[in-house]
Amino acid sequence: MDSDVAKKRAEIPGSASSILDARTLHTSHKRLSELVTEGMSVLDVGCGTGTITKGIAEIVGSRGRVVGIDQNPAFVETANESALDLPMLSFMEGDVYDLPFENEFDMVTSARVLQWLSDPVRALRTLIAAAKPGGKIIILDYNHEKIKWEPEPPESTKQFYRAFLKWRADAGMDNEMADHLEEMYGRVGLSQIHTHIQDEVVTRSDPDFMKKINIWADVMTSRGKQMVRDGFYGESELTLAEKQYREWVQFEARSQCMYLRAVEGSKQ
Ligand SMILES: C[S@@+](CC[C@H](N)C(=O)[O-])C[C@H]1O[C@@H](n2cnc3c(N)ncnc32)[C@H](O)[C@@H]1O
Repeated sequence: MDSDVAKKRAEIPGSASSILDARTLHTSHKRLSELVTEGMSVLDVGCGTGTITKGIAEIVGSRGRVVGIDQNPAFVETANESALDLPMLSFMEGDVYDLPFENEFDMVTSARVLQWLSDPVRALRTLIAAAKPGGKIIILDYNHEKIKWEPEPPESTKQFYRAFLKWRADAGMDNEMADHLEEMYGRVGLSQIHTHIQDEVVTRSDPDFMKKINIWADVMTSRGKQMVRDGFYGESELTLAEKQYREWVQFEARSQCMYLRAVEGSKQ
């Protein structure tokens, strides 16, 4: 499948950056927060607005080096503004398929990015090239087929979700990325491969329940429009799905679990 289609569908509309802005290293990339230590050099590819990257820089300190890369210039600009007080941290615009680094970093990470690519193995090879020999690669990603809601959401939500996954698969994206990482790591020659469960669970008693579970309302508003434009969903169905999802969130929803895995491996 044409990777330009994936590239276009992966673009995050400006309105959706609030989901990225709310993430931190400790809440949203836990395994990485356990691995990063003072003085390390770390590359974060597909860093979004850089909130996780900034957390990495705070740990590595002034003897370390952290670089964040994203293809979205608006995200890089926001990230740069937040990095002014951290001289070891820099952000740049760039494409995961074309990274300007070789054998430079102790650790290379890419969180929630490979799921949006049509050729994740090619991306993984460029991430590995950027790591030093003996360096670590750590990818964080979802299996969207394994999401769980309690209780079941309305039929219109499930229909939207199925269309969303179909729209992604049509662009060559892997909806089960999390469960294919280990096999990919083996194929490209990484060693010491370990998988960590990092599921994102939110329940009604959590203070940020509404913000987190409304991720699908945000997806309906942002990606839904793209799906309508691409002929994968009807405009009236989208309006109904969004209305019924918001009602379900307000009155019925108890929990949501998004299946997320961090997979680490070492470069020989
Ligand atoms: C879902 S966001 C994840 C952001 C952040 N890593 C996090 O975990 O919150 C995916 C990010 O990958 C970026 N991205 C998608 N395709 C990319 C590519 N080919 N090269 C670089 N960045 C890319 C997007 O612009 C977006 O910021």
